[in-house]
Amino acid sequence: MDVFEGKSWISGQGLVNTCIGVDEGKITAVKKILKGDNHTKFEGIILPSAFDMHVHFRDPGYPHKEDWKTGSECAAAGGVTAVVDMPNTNPFTSDLETFNDKVSTASSKSVVDFGVGVNVEKDLTEQTWFDTIPAAFWKLYPYGISSAEYFSYAKEVLDKTSKPLVIHGEHPDHMHNEPLNELSDHTQNRLIAEPECLASMPSSPYLHVAHLSTLEGLNRMPKLASSEVCPHHLLLNLDNCHSLDCKVDPPLRTKKDNSGLYDAFREGKIPILSSDHAPHTIEEKRSDNPPSGLPGVETMIPLMLNEVSEGRLELSRLVNAMSEAPAERLGLDRGRISEGMPADLIMIDMKNSKPIDLDKLHSKSNWTPFEDWPAIFPSQVYRRGELIAESGEIRQEGGGQNLF
Ligand code: DOR
Ligand code: ZN
Repeated sequence: MDVFEGKSWISGQGLVNTCIGVDEGKITAVKKILKGDNHTKFEGIILPSAFDMHVHFRDPGYPHKEDWKTGSECAAAGGVTAVVDMPNTNPFTSDLETFNDKVSTASSKSVVDFGVGVNVEKDLTEQTWFDTIPAAFWKLYPYGISSAEYFSYAKEVLDKTSKPLVIHGEHPDHMHNEPLNELSDHTQNRLIAEPECLASMPSSPYLHVAHLSTLEGLNRMPKLASSEVCPHHLLLNLDNCHSLDCKVDPPLRTKKDNSGLYDAFREGKIPILSSDHAPHTIEEKRSDNPPSGLPGVETMIPLMLNEVSEGRLELSRLVNAMSEAPAERLGLDRGRISEGMPADLIMIDMKNSKPIDLDKLHSKSNWTPFEDWPAIFPSQVYRRGELIAESGEIRQEGGGQNLF
């Protein structure tokens, strides 16, 4: 048995001086004193690692932007040991064959554990495999379809599914494409897309709204549905971010939206933190027709740990939003430091806040909207008891497993 000793986050108790016993990747004991074959004492704090249920690792299809190796290395270095990949790869993940292909690629290349989201297509619920394919969830995008189709697909899946339907909450009729001269033009093009979409979505406990971006959208959340928010919609707005590089869907908004969403996040009304890691190369971002999306899986936890250290967020809320709540939402028993859980742990020195250095990040996109922002990166990251990252260096090749 390996033993990790330190001030550890125990749900319901908070930070407690304890020993964590780990055997074959699982936590087998949590006790004041434990003897094991390898005993490592940590000076900082030990938290459950994060589970990011919203990433785009671009594999298959766009290996110049990211792939399962580089995307998962970003995750590992940033304290995320499990992710769910979105289906807008090429080909889209929309049937059993594309699902199995992606699982097989991820199994051979990913250093973190993973799940795969499957795209909602016309006639999805007629598929013989619907709700038997081990997708992490269904994903519905508002692109290339009418609003009538968008809402009827959502309703049909919600009526028939027994797993979450994640929607991109923007109304197809309210996403305009007027030319962009500055970042605020993109926001203007989609000013009411989110609240209009959410006001028309059916209430369902299976519905999950991705990347909430507006206060008005929050107010229109369908009853019984859950939601997530990304660091860029909590921390960036049209006042502190002007670059067209920061074009993202849904767009950046105002300081007032940031603070309204942040309050709801603090109170747990928005239960889940996700990154929407959506890398594009800087050449693509600077082209005449820049794609939407920001990289973020590597900086999400470090930025939010800095928020905790500056007193703007409770550690209990961060741990819940990054580890416990996403696991629970997707029906997985993990994300806590307790007996029987996978030994997915991050070690943190809360005093080690440093400006984000682009050269140390692992994404192929090779840029970040958070360059020089203060952040606290984990010193060690363990996936099922194995050290996979240490001070930003990757310590393992592959080894990630499908969790679903
Ligand atoms: O900004 C975005 N980029 N929003 C999305 O929903 C998709 C993503 C992407 O895949 O690039
Ligand atoms: Zn996304």
